[in-house]
Amino acid sequence: MADKRENKANGYNEMETTVEKPSPAGHTMNGSKPPSIIIETQNMELKKNLGLTSAISMIVGTIIGSGIFVSPKGVLESTGSVGLSLLVWAGSGLIAMMGGLCYAELGTLLPKSGGEYIYLKEGLGDIPAFLFAWTSILVTRTSSLAIITLTFATYAGSFFELCGGPQLPEKLISAITIILIGIVNSWSTTLAARVQVIFTFAKVAALVVIIVGGFVKLAQGNTSVISSGFEGTTDSPFIIALAFYDALWAYDGWNNLNSVTEELQNPPKNLPRANVGSVILVIIVYLLTNISYLTVMTVDELLDSPAVAVTWGARVLGAAKVIMPLSVLVSTFGGANGSAYTSGRVVFAAARDGFLPEYLSYIHVKKYTPLPSMIFTVFVSLLMIIPGDISSLIDLFSFTAWCFYGMTFTSLLVLRYKMKEAHRPYTVPIFIPILMVLISIYLVVAPIIHEPKIEFLYAFVFVMSGLLFYFPLVYFNLHFKCIDTLTMYGQLFLEVVPTKSEED
Ligand code: ARG
Repeated sequence: MADKRENKANGYNEMETTVEKPSPAGHTMNGSKPPSIIIETQNMELKKNLGLTSAISMIVGTIIGSGIFVSPKGVLESTGSVGLSLLVWAGSGLIAMMGGLCYAELGTLLPKSGGEYIYLKEGLGDIPAFLFAWTSILVTRTSSLAIITLTFATYAGSFFELCGGPQLPEKLISAITIILIGIVNSWSTTLAARVQVIFTFAKVAALVVIIVGGFVKLAQGNTSVISSGFEGTTDSPFIIALAFYDALWAYDGWNNLNSVTEELQNPPKNLPRANVGSVILVIIVYLLTNISYLTVMTVDELLDSPAVAVTWGARVLGAAKVIMPLSVLVSTFGGANGSAYTSGRVVFAAARDGFLPEYLSYIHVKKYTPLPSMIFTVFVSLLMIIPGDISSLIDLFSFTAWCFYGMTFTSLLVLRYKMKEAHRPYTVPIFIPILMVLISIYLVVAPIIHEPKIEFLYAFVFVMSGLLFYFPLVYFNLHFKCIDTLTMYGQLFLEVVPTKSEED
């Protein structure tokens, strides 16, 4: 059987697949060959499809998701005042932008797809890189999916209420959404990519409605809340870190282009431009949206509202209020889909390098979708929604993500020495990565000092438990026959195959 197809959306172009009888092929984590139904995928190459505009829309499309519809409440709660909350929104944007500049240097110095995984490997060595890959499949990807689908469920509840329907169990809706997204992404990458584009339009449209509506109200003289300024501001620098967690969740995705650097045209120019340009765009949209929320609602109303955009819609849109939860549903569904879709690449890169079970990098023989890694993600995400609520999941996500962002900025500094002579198409002013390392330390340490939550311990244990797998399977290269057998049955069961690895 031979099958040839183009799958630009996933970056795996012109893959030719030939299926043969069972025979030794593929690689395990330690590089040995398990028995498997051999399937060779050839001509796999990443095409340079992304120009500046598509690169920017790709970043903006991932950044804008659930955060702007859930985080304003958390930011306001932790900061205590309108003035400081707006400052945190702007400051978080600035942090994301400086992060983007550091990643522009890293991405042009090491122009391989895979993002942090590649930079940590070069800069700090195999263990941090392994732990990053391990953590992204166990904690960050899965908590992302859980947070976004829980937001989806909150707004689905409001939508049904507005339509006079029954109250829906949120966790059940969230679980169904995760499974649905898993199915879409396992069914077809092209379908997943289309969902992404259509849904990006919807979310931008929803935000434009909020911004315009807010400014009409502002022009009519509704300025009492905005002009309350810094009244009530918290005096604890530790609580402010939690406000940053909420806002930085809304900005997360600023690093997304670095996971697909190989597909970008002219990275030396386009990577810094796209990383900075998209964040500037999002900062403007987020600030205006927050101003609009605060023009229409009082501080207490905002803090009491489980779905801020719905309350906003009820105030401003009158009979048309139902469009608000509907567009948020579309936005969050798109965001969850995008998160599930793009994060596969990290797992793919690490698994292909032998850093994760190679089975996780296999793709479906006909559909070319990353079935094993998708099923794994769905499973762990479902576990996350059982005990989780949005706010503690955001803390869990941000804590883990900023541990690794911090290590990546450290990597940049180390690489300045390790690869002193290397050609750097773009060099970030040195104070920026130094500042980013300090900011990351603050973001990781401050919430623990403020309130040592059990989630932080879970996250730490999750991350470290990766070492139990790293040493036997990667470092000591132990080979277990049962893994080969499981891989073989797994291949037959899901009809998945290895893709061509770099050394082939
Ligand atoms: N900023 C997004 C939101 O507000 C979350 C992005 C999660 N991260 C990612 N790389 N997909 O929903």
